[in-house]
Amino acid sequence: MTTGTRLPTGAGVGLRLPHLAEVVATRPPAAWLETHPENFLANPHATELLTRVAAHYPISVHTVGVSIGSAKGIDCHHLRRVRGLIARVDPVLVSGHLAWSTHEGEYLNDLLPLPYDEETLALLVRHVDEVQEGLGRPYLVENPSSYVGFGTSTMTEVEFLSELVRRTGCRLLCDVSNVYLSAHNMGYDAYAYLDGLPVDAVGELHLGGFTPEEDESDPGSTLLIDTHASPITGPVWDLYAHAVRRFGPVPTMIEWDNDLPPFATLLAEAAKADVVATQARHPENRRAVAC
Ligand SMILES: [Fe+2]
Repeated sequence: MTTGTRLPTGAGVGLRLPHLAEVVATRPPAAWLETHPENFLANPHATELLTRVAAHYPISVHTVGVSIGSAKGIDCHHLRRVRGLIARVDPVLVSGHLAWSTHEGEYLNDLLPLPYDEETLALLVRHVDEVQEGLGRPYLVENPSSYVGFGTSTMTEVEFLSELVRRTGCRLLCDVSNVYLSAHNMGYDAYAYLDGLPVDAVGELHLGGFTPEEDESDPGSTLLIDTHASPITGPVWDLYAHAVRRFGPVPTMIEWDNDLPPFATLLAEAAKADVVATQARHPENRRAVAC
C-alpha cells in the first residue's frame, strides 16, 4: 500500500485519550494525529471514536507494544490486533521503537535498550521483516532515548539503524528530542548523529519535552529524561531546524504524554514547529515568517 500521497505537510500532534472526546466534538485544526494503538485495542468505545476521528484527519499509528527487540520473538497476537486497528483507521504511517518491552508474555512498562552488535541486528532484521509482512506496509523504526550503553556494542546506533534500513527496507522515525537528550546523556554530537542517518529513509520526525534530573551515579551532572511532559526547548528547536534542512519536509509530530496540557497547547507547539521548519528551509523569508 502506498500512503505517500496522503502524507500531511504541517506538524501534527499526539492524540491521547483525555483529548479524544474533545477532538470528536470540536474538530480542532490539527494537521494530523498520532495515536498509540495499545490505548484502543481493549477499549471498543475509544476505538469507535477514533474511527470517527480518522474520517477527518490523517492518522499515524505509533505502536509501543510491538517489541521488535525481544529475544523470544514478537507477539504475533498483538501484531494481528494492531493490524485490525490499522484496517479501521487506514493510517498514513505506522511506527514503533528500537527497543524491547516484552519478555515471555510479560509486558514491561518501559522501552528497554539493546546492544548494537551483529547478533542483535540479525534478530531485529528478522522481526522487522515479520512486522512489515504482517502489517503489509513499511514500518518506521524510532531511535530511542538513551541513558546507558552496552560495552559489548560493536557499532554505533546510527550504524545499527542504517544497516537495519539496508537489510529490511524499513524506514526511520527520527525523534529529534531523543537525539538531543541521548547525545547529552551518552556524550556524543547530536548534529553528527543526524548527519549520519540515511536521508531517504527518514519518514517522520518527533519532538517532545524532557526533564533534567541529577545523575545519582555522577553527582553534579545532569541526565535528561524523556518524559514528554513539557514544552520543547530552544536547543531542540535548533536541532529540529537542522533535521528539516537535512531530511526535507517529512511529517513532524509533537509528543506530549504526561502532565497533559489543553489540546490548544499542543496545537501551538505544532504551529511553532511549522514556523521553525519554514524558516529552516527558506531562511530568506525569516523576517516575514517571524512577523
Ligand atoms: Fe518519539
